[in-house]
Amino acid sequence: MVREKWSSRIGFLLAGIGSAVGLGNVWRFPYIVGQNGGGAFLIPYLISVFLFGLPLMLLEFSTGRLFKGSVVSSLKKIRKKFKWIGIAVVSVLTVVLSYYLVITGWILAFFTFTLLGRETSFESFAQTYFSPLFFVVVTIAASLIVMRGVRKGIEKTSKIMVPALGVLLAVMVIYSLSLPNAMDGITFYLTPDLSKLSDSSIWAAAFGQAFFSLSVGSGILLTYGSYLEEKISLVNSSMLITIFDLLVSFMSGLIVFSIASSFGFEVAAGPKLAFSTLPQVFDKVPYGFFLEGIFFLLLFFAALTSAISMLEIGVAVLIDETSLDRFKSTSLLSSIILVLGFPAALSYSGISLQFTGRPVLDLMDETFGSFGIPLTALLLSTSISWFLDNLVIAEEINKNAKWKIGKTVVFLTRYFIPIVLLYVLLTRLHFYLV
Ligand code: PHE
Repeated sequence: MVREKWSSRIGFLLAGIGSAVGLGNVWRFPYIVGQNGGGAFLIPYLISVFLFGLPLMLLEFSTGRLFKGSVVSSLKKIRKKFKWIGIAVVSVLTVVLSYYLVITGWILAFFTFTLLGRETSFESFAQTYFSPLFFVVVTIAASLIVMRGVRKGIEKTSKIMVPALGVLLAVMVIYSLSLPNAMDGITFYLTPDLSKLSDSSIWAAAFGQAFFSLSVGSGILLTYGSYLEEKISLVNSSMLITIFDLLVSFMSGLIVFSIASSFGFEVAAGPKLAFSTLPQVFDKVPYGFFLEGIFFLLLFFAALTSAISMLEIGVAVLIDETSLDRFKSTSLLSSIILVLGFPAALSYSGISLQFTGRPVLDLMDETFGSFGIPLTALLLSTSISWFLDNLVIAEEINKNAKWKIGKTVVFLTRYFIPIVLLYVLLTRLHFYLV
């Protein structure tokens, strides 16, 4: 069977941006900045994005395009045994996807409530028995998109949702900046306190956030690279995806910090921010209903386009490695995801499913999200940078590129990135054990 290809460069770019821009940008980035010293965080963050995130992205795109295969098929071509690394990468990501879809379901639920004009707090929603239903709905939606294929499914959806997300975000930025006292929040957000830079935990947070936000090291970009034409420059495209991802995080920060200082709430509130703090604010302001609708719709677009990218990597593996076609592969994988994610969905429902006293979703995130992803990223990147001919990768990266940075990228992915990933893993382990 002929491998599908992106129909155009812009289609590929929007799909790449769609994967990168997700909950990590709109929901996670602002509170991570808040918890890590405000403006001071932006410096290690920018360094992490350009020095570690971008090179890893290039490594994945180039490997995918060289081998024209899924993570498993590509790694297998480097060394037969590396097939197992590919399987580990896909398995971890599939578990992450299962609870990512639970959160995407919450967003859809809140959007629906806003449309119906109903005020609901997260606490009361999470106690209802029907809350897992939204998880099922978004899982089916994501699989229907992926079933339609690279062009008609992923690319087409991204072409609609990503630009729409940009417009909604711009509306929210303009509104938030016009609020009274917004500037105090912006000052905290943009003034770096350089003395904080000596705190190593800020650096670990920045590395972790950059990897997650750019979707690097999880095999997605490798899979997306396998659908790429030779004539497209990987360097230019990766730069654009990285810059847009940064821009969306930056704009989300502007929104959250202005609203926070105008209404006097704590940005470091953490995960609760999107589902309880902001809705409370929206309830108080004129046209709040409208703003809340915009906010949840943009969050939904961001989350869904990332979710379909996570689903595609597993589907690509099944298509390449088994005799199943796209329809059957997607159906099989989504059924597995429904089973895996259901306990997570039940943990925030009337049943409040817990394990060792913690909601199942939180435990899944702490193990698979915080450890699993950096660990498989370490395995994936080193098995490419140490075992595939470096000249071949550098050449693939430099093809049609204005800036020939292939060799630098290879150097970084060989020596620096493994150290950084190890550092992220160790700090998380320390945090977990202490
Ligand atoms: N980058 C996505 C976000 O910011 C999350 C993601 C991580 C998607 C890893 C795919 C792979 O939400």
